[in-house]
Amino acid sequence: MAERDPAWKVLPKPSRPHDSARLHVTGEARYADDVHEPAGMLHLAFGQSSEARARIVSMDLAEVRKSPGVIAVFTAADIPGANDVAPVAGDDQLLADGEVACHGQALFLVAATSQRAARVAARLGRIEYERLAPAITIADARAAGSHIEPAQRMARGDAATALEGAAHRLQGRFAMGGQDHFYLEGQVAVATPGEDGQVHVLSSTQHPSEVQHLIAHMLQLSSADVTVEVRRMGGAFGGKETQAALFAAAAALAAHRTGRPAKFRCDRDDDMVMTGKRHEFEVGYDVGFNADGRLQGLSLHLASRCGASVDLSPAINDRAMFHSDNCYYVPDVEVVSERLKTNTVSATAFRGFGGPQGMLAIERVIDHVAAHLGLDPLDVRMANLYGPGRDTTPYGMEVADNVAPQIIARLRATSRYDERARAVAAFNVASPVLKKGIALTPVKFGISFTTTHLNQAGALVHVYADGSIQVNHGGTEMGQGLHVKIAQVVADVFSVSPDLVRITSTRTDKVPNTSATAASSGADLNGMAAYNAAMTIRERLCAFLSRAYAVGESEVHFTPGGVLVGGQTLAFGQVARKAHIGRISLSSTGYYATPGIEYDRSVFKGRPFYYFAYGAAVSEVVIDTLTGEHRVLAVDILHDVGRSLNPAIDMGQIEGGFIQGQGWLTSEELVYDAKGRLLTHSPATYKIPTASDRPGHFTIELWDGENVEPTINRSKAVGEPPFMLAISVFSALNRAVAAAAPGRRTIPPLDAPATPERVLCAIAAHGAGE
Ligand code: MTE
Ligand code: MOS
Repeated sequence: MAERDPAWKVLPKPSRPHDSARLHVTGEARYADDVHEPAGMLHLAFGQSSEARARIVSMDLAEVRKSPGVIAVFTAADIPGANDVAPVAGDDQLLADGEVACHGQALFLVAATSQRAARVAARLGRIEYERLAPAITIADARAAGSHIEPAQRMARGDAATALEGAAHRLQGRFAMGGQDHFYLEGQVAVATPGEDGQVHVLSSTQHPSEVQHLIAHMLQLSSADVTVEVRRMGGAFGGKETQAALFAAAAALAAHRTGRPAKFRCDRDDDMVMTGKRHEFEVGYDVGFNADGRLQGLSLHLASRCGASVDLSPAINDRAMFHSDNCYYVPDVEVVSERLKTNTVSATAFRGFGGPQGMLAIERVIDHVAAHLGLDPLDVRMANLYGPGRDTTPYGMEVADNVAPQIIARLRATSRYDERARAVAAFNVASPVLKKGIALTPVKFGISFTTTHLNQAGALVHVYADGSIQVNHGGTEMGQGLHVKIAQVVADVFSVSPDLVRITSTRTDKVPNTSATAASSGADLNGMAAYNAAMTIRERLCAFLSRAYAVGESEVHFTPGGVLVGGQTLAFGQVARKAHIGRISLSSTGYYATPGIEYDRSVFKGRPFYYFAYGAAVSEVVIDTLTGEHRVLAVDILHDVGRSLNPAIDMGQIEGGFIQGQGWLTSEELVYDAKGRLLTHSPATYKIPTASDRPGHFTIELWDGENVEPTINRSKAVGEPPFMLAISVFSALNRAVAAAAPGRRTIPPLDAPATPERVLCAIAAHGAGE
């Protein structure tokens, strides 16, 4: 199917604004919370656990029930079917039954006449606990032998022997923090009971089908009884891939039990406490290399804090392993990944899905090697790139489309990296308090869900008799511009303006059995499915016109000026009308499954990814060695999106992804106390980047190339890869800190995020010779 019109697929696509840009800016865009509230709407809140790990001895909810405005209170005993909102492992309860495994866990659900009444009542539960010793940190969990699954190992060759034989050898450790998604629209769901036990749920979720299936099991309904709809999310970033299910299920339970519509709009602080975040990692390494910094052997140990349940942690940690090579070939390598189960909220998907953690690990190793040898880290990076004869990853996949060396070389030149690196060095000699750093780091990011069966999508295209077009597909819109891209794809099939194409809500009753919009593959998968649906209709129109005008099908042409047939030019609307009168079906489904990928998790070998997306960034920073504060002065990015589906949207993704990565590595800090309570649960204490953190000099260029694989338009996925370009900021900060103690041939002990406190501690420790 995809091969029907190869010439079409490499047309350059123009930039177009996001389809909802005007609505976003004017405030007219409707989010779940904006939809008109019917009479009798119930508002919901959870009673939450005050303990990180405990047995529930008793729950006295009398005061909750008596609180003004309360209509109903539900506990685990009120759930008719499965008490489960987990994506895979069945270990996330909607309402705690017997035990709690993290602070903030939902114990009971209050339905009241207002959100305020529900929240006030939710605090009045009297819970008696039998406290158990919690594991809060990675170290606690390791000491307690607490894991979500056995450690995984991926290896090639013999790392131990290579390490022994290497000319140079170093060991090191470091840590990186997690990250809250901080989507602007918090978690929200609205459930409306229908006839005969059915339920409709408007949910802010990346995964409508999963929410549908979980609600069906929870209410002992069939999937056909439950419809989940998503018009748009106000940001998700992975935080609504699994985490939306809790709120949607709660709303569905309340609607089902009361027969009234029910809305759960989670308060921001509760959202930050109750929903999963990026995994925090601790990294240990033992690396052997030669005098040029070329790696000979590497033993890498990754440990992550997975939190209280399995969630998506196996796949996330696998992806960390897959990206712990980044752009570099290591002949003999061993990566061991330890997945620790802690009594903290379950860690979940977040832009990059473990990739950033794996990539930061290897970039840190390279920086350490460069510091030890006194080389420019960029030269060490170049010495280690994949290339001819050294082009197979540790998991056995050939790096067939490697443009990293060209991207790095071009950015090195256009950003004047070498000249600026000399200027930074000169500045540091002359400047006692302020110190600068500069770094160029590359990105190679694998595109596909590593769970192979998820790489499929469906679409439904309707052409109405007036020539207007409606598109549905399995993907969800979270601000990334998926809908405008797909409207462009469909418009191109008929050679009409994208203004004729209306994309509507994602709905499980229109396109079933969808995968999450995740792994950056929304446009790759759904774009191709929508293309296939539209092509089916176009082929029917061609056949019809060729009959009607007694010409060959090859003489029917869809052009921007109209449809050319038998010497006439018909407007697309005329064609649609004629075809309808000619009794031609103008509606079609379309389907796509990514070809060529297969992967055996039991041995960590195969081709988990269809292709790689590449990029590189140069960041220049300055730190104040007296306060530990920093500024990102200048950033230059060169990024590969293949043949772009929409350059303006892609540039927005690159910029947003980069800044979000900058936040992860510099200012966003999650602090838990010894009892496992998150202390940084509001914007007052959790610092995301603001407009003033955007670098003063910021250039983004798209690499001019096309995907070697026949993806839609030969484009490449863009949602996650640019996030990891921000590793250049962290690398540059390390060099700035190192410049405070010139002459030391090692890397400063700086963990991420590089908050002022951490930068100051690193300066002190590095200067003291640690
Ligand atoms: N961009 C915006 N504006 N908002 C988001 O929530 N999520 C990111 C990325 N870009 C996100 C975003 C994540 S985590 C992914 S996986 C992709 O978008 C998902 O969409 P796509 O597959 O259509 O690129
Ligand atoms: Mo993105 S973390 O794959 O939702």
